[in-house]
Amino acid sequence: MCGIIGYTGSKQVRDILIDGLQKLEYRGYDSAGIALHNGSMRVIKSPGKVHDLVEILPPALDSNTGIAHTRWATHGGATELNAHPHTSSTGKLVLVHNGIIENSAQIEGFLKNKGYSFISETDTEILLNLIEYEYLANGKDIKSALVKTFSLVTGSYALAIIEEDKPGRITLCRKDSPLILGIDKTGFYVASDIYAVSEYAGHFIFPGNNDIIIVENKSKITVYDVHGNEKEPEIKEFNAAKKKPDRCGYEHFMKKEIFEQPDILSDLVGSEYKIEGHLSSGKNFNDILHSISRITIIGCGTSWHAGLVARYIIEKYARIPVIVEYASEYRYRDPVINNHDLVISLSQSGETADTIAANRLAADAGAITMGILNVRNSSLDRETDFQVFLEAGDEIGVASTKAYTAQIIQLSRLASIIAALRGNEAKSQEILDALSQISSNLRYFLEKNSNITDLAQKYASSSNFLFLGRGLNFPTALEGALKLKEISYIHAEGYPGAEMKHGPIALIDIDFPTMVILSDNENRTKMISNIKEIKARGGKVIAIINEGDTEAEQIVDDVIKMPSVPDIISPVLSVVPLQLFAYYVALLRGCNVDQPRNLAKSVTVE
Ligand code: M6R
Repeated sequence: MCGIIGYTGSKQVRDILIDGLQKLEYRGYDSAGIALHNGSMRVIKSPGKVHDLVEILPPALDSNTGIAHTRWATHGGATELNAHPHTSSTGKLVLVHNGIIENSAQIEGFLKNKGYSFISETDTEILLNLIEYEYLANGKDIKSALVKTFSLVTGSYALAIIEEDKPGRITLCRKDSPLILGIDKTGFYVASDIYAVSEYAGHFIFPGNNDIIIVENKSKITVYDVHGNEKEPEIKEFNAAKKKPDRCGYEHFMKKEIFEQPDILSDLVGSEYKIEGHLSSGKNFNDILHSISRITIIGCGTSWHAGLVARYIIEKYARIPVIVEYASEYRYRDPVINNHDLVISLSQSGETADTIAANRLAADAGAITMGILNVRNSSLDRETDFQVFLEAGDEIGVASTKAYTAQIIQLSRLASIIAALRGNEAKSQEILDALSQISSNLRYFLEKNSNITDLAQKYASSSNFLFLGRGLNFPTALEGALKLKEISYIHAEGYPGAEMKHGPIALIDIDFPTMVILSDNENRTKMISNIKEIKARGGKVIAIINEGDTEAEQIVDDVIKMPSVPDIISPVLSVVPLQLFAYYVALLRGCNVDQPRNLAKSVTVE
């Protein structure tokens, strides 16, 4: 994953790099480092977060050229030696890398035969020394070195390189990992995303796969294609300035983001359903909806769960077949795709590597692609035919909360549009009527969520948790389990209620609690039977129930009461107590709620 930032120009680089690293920390926070060129090259790095690096940096560092990196470890632990920037064997090149070099073992063998040795455990150091080997063999010509390297490596990379002999120059290139070049009057900014530099730059170049861009002397840009032939730079104007994220008085971003949901969802439900983008054929989105025979939703993690909820809604109300698949599986299983498929990439960040690759696969096979995204100007925004935005504001907590509920809303609204287009106005309106009830009910629940902290206290010392739901709320069970495990490190599994008898019930004992989502009417009776099966085996049950469900209240150990709403929107409501439960349990266990261990907000490597 990792975040890359760089600058060369007339400004001092230190604060630009630190500011950029802080903005890119969502891509990884295992270690951070910077490299400066001020006549000679200097590298400073540290394990841990960006603030750990800042603590060891001298307050003033005189330099106008530098590159920096925040890492999510792939090859080798989170140590200072493995941290980027890496320096090549002769010290001629310093590089930062986002991606994975898949044939690094083979390249390592080749370089060892040439006398190279390595000090880190990273694929990046191997890649760098291959570039250096070619650099020295090609008269220190970085462009020729990269063209040769491209033909020798497999994998993904976004690279920024500085050369000892070329002060004031940065070379960048990418393949399947994002990297942009920002431009202002003072010089050039290299970054993993536009927002790391949008405060400074108004013009951007989005390099294609294996383009090589050399920026130097404050204003000179040269762009080469994969073969090393010079090409015209394509400069685009963007005003993408963003406010700095603010916790607004909340202790954690995650809590703020949970409590923002009523406002965000009510704004979303009340807004026009805006479909951006176009097809070169000129066909509009309504034409497309008439011609498609199937919808495939791809995503990862929480986004995949939102896709699962949407499948129930779209199939039930719009009567069109829906497939929901992990992007990481879809991209490698040779799926049957044709030009009557609408493939929806569901992604908060728009930067998830597997989702981007799966989207490319679908587009190449002729499908119409659509991104349902939170982050504008992200890779998936650029790469999909059509886009719908979640308008949820920055989601900073690693655990996705408001993006999940906004995804369900935007997909439900799509279901309503398709139902209407297919002539079923009543079904279409039913969805809209239900959506209009979400915010007030959510607000009411959040204002009186009195017992969740008590329940967190009671169950925080559990080592395991089972989450059960059925139908529309089976994905809620998956999502509740994911929230708990990712921020509190409690092992949790989500299952459809009926599947419990096929194995997981063997786990149940007095120390293995189950959270049951019982807040939709469609599956209530069946779930009551499942609860009885757990109770008969001595298991503890917490149930999310509708207010007034005294029957359920009597058979379980604890309840979380939700206002009764139409079934179709119950997944949006029932997930919120699960988000809060995970949050409070994580706090009680002393976990870092916003930046849990081993994770990153965006998973930008496969
Ligand atoms: O940005 P995306 O929606 O594509 O991210 C997908 C997953 O990485 C993400 O939902 C992840 O599972 C979250 N940490 C879950 O809270």
